[in-house]
Amino acid sequence: MANILVTGACGQLGSELTAELRKIHGNERVVASDINGPVTLIGDGPYEHLDVMNKQHLEKVIEKYNIGVVYHLAAILSANSEKNIDLAWKLNIDGLLNVLQLAQSRKMERVFWPSSIAVFGPDAQKKKTPQNSPMNPTTVYGISKVAGEHWCAYFHRKFGVDVRSLRYPGLIGYKSLPGGGTTDYAVDIYHKAVAGEKFSCFLEKDSALPMMYMDDAVKAAIDLMNAPEENITIRTSYNVSAISFSPEEIATSIQARIPGFDVAYEPDYRQEIASSWPDSIDDSAARDDWGWKPAFDLKKMTADMLKNLPGVLEGM
Ligand code: SER
Repeated sequence: MANILVTGACGQLGSELTAELRKIHGNERVVASDINGPVTLIGDGPYEHLDVMNKQHLEKVIEKYNIGVVYHLAAILSANSEKNIDLAWKLNIDGLLNVLQLAQSRKMERVFWPSSIAVFGPDAQKKKTPQNSPMNPTTVYGISKVAGEHWCAYFHRKFGVDVRSLRYPGLIGYKSLPGGGTTDYAVDIYHKAVAGEKFSCFLEKDSALPMMYMDDAVKAAIDLMNAPEENITIRTSYNVSAISFSPEEIATSIQARIPGFDVAYEPDYRQEIASSWPDSIDDSAARDDWGWKPAFDLKKMTADMLKNLPGVLEGM
């Protein structure tokens, strides 16, 4: 049986997705890879130090472990992409092309690649943004995600590569930290609340963004990858939605449990990125095609974060 490779396995999504895939398929069948790891979070199992821009090495790893399915997560997020345009484009696009070309030439079974709400720009419908709203992003990250979506659709149409994708909103979890994203404030805010410190938010208090709890994000990827091929009608990337809230709303949900938690709003360059993105997303295609349904709302997420984060921080 072919095995699974996760790139970017030590990242925020990668560490949790790798752990879940190992639970389902067994540690030995899921190969973790990254340029920054290994981290303890991904647990026991094969690990390869891998730069996805190095196609030869990527092919060697695929061959060595008889890889048939790739979860290709290695990428640079929105805020960091603005600071390093060249690397963001190379990693986000050349890395994806390497994976798609190897999936084609080696006749791999399936590829998962995350896109983002960042594909939308200021001219997209702000609320309940439809699947096919205009995609004119104003960020480097968004440009790379729009291009990546079209590469996925092209490799599927032209070569039959079964590549599947989700437009993730901001992801929030307690097990690992994100890095370099615009939505990351919604993770940091819990860390400050648990530490009993004041939080300085780099977005305006009313800047609403689409978000998702990590359990839902992992489930969405696995459900999409398990769906029968004939159900997948969208080969660019599916809108997926769970929660939408502003910094003030998440602060209020924390204050309901930690009264006195103090937040200051000091917007920086990331506000412009956030302002160009939707407030909320319409994900009816994902619901209709493969039964997508999130489990966590803001209240449930805050309860789970505040219950689990202190233990994780103690263990660090
Ligand atoms: N969470 C990502 C970011 O802020 C969006 O996909 O960059």
